[in-house]
Amino acid sequence: MVLTIIRIRVHNGCMIVCVCKAVSDRHIRTAVKGGASSLRDLTRDLGVGTCCGKCLPEAKSALAASLKACDSSRSNLFSPAATEFAV
Ligand code: FES
Repeated sequence: MVLTIIRIRVHNGCMIVCVCKAVSDRHIRTAVKGGASSLRDLTRDLGVGTCCGKCLPEAKSALAASLKACDSSRSNLFSPAATEFAV
């Protein structure tokens, strides 16, 4: 059973952040790409932290990482290298 769980984790490449609501870091990244920008947004959209609340610190951390990744990918869109081919 443990081997199966490890295989699923490696295959999916995501980590469960909220066990109660089965929310992974991938769900959080998707929510951020969809406009979520706060823990309140994640709670409303995904139900993170609405049961036991033990996931809130990890959810906050995953949110920060997703926002940072999203910001850097957006800034790359407008970098000179990216706009070079826009002409
Ligand atoms: S682990 Fe997220 S509400 Fe319980």
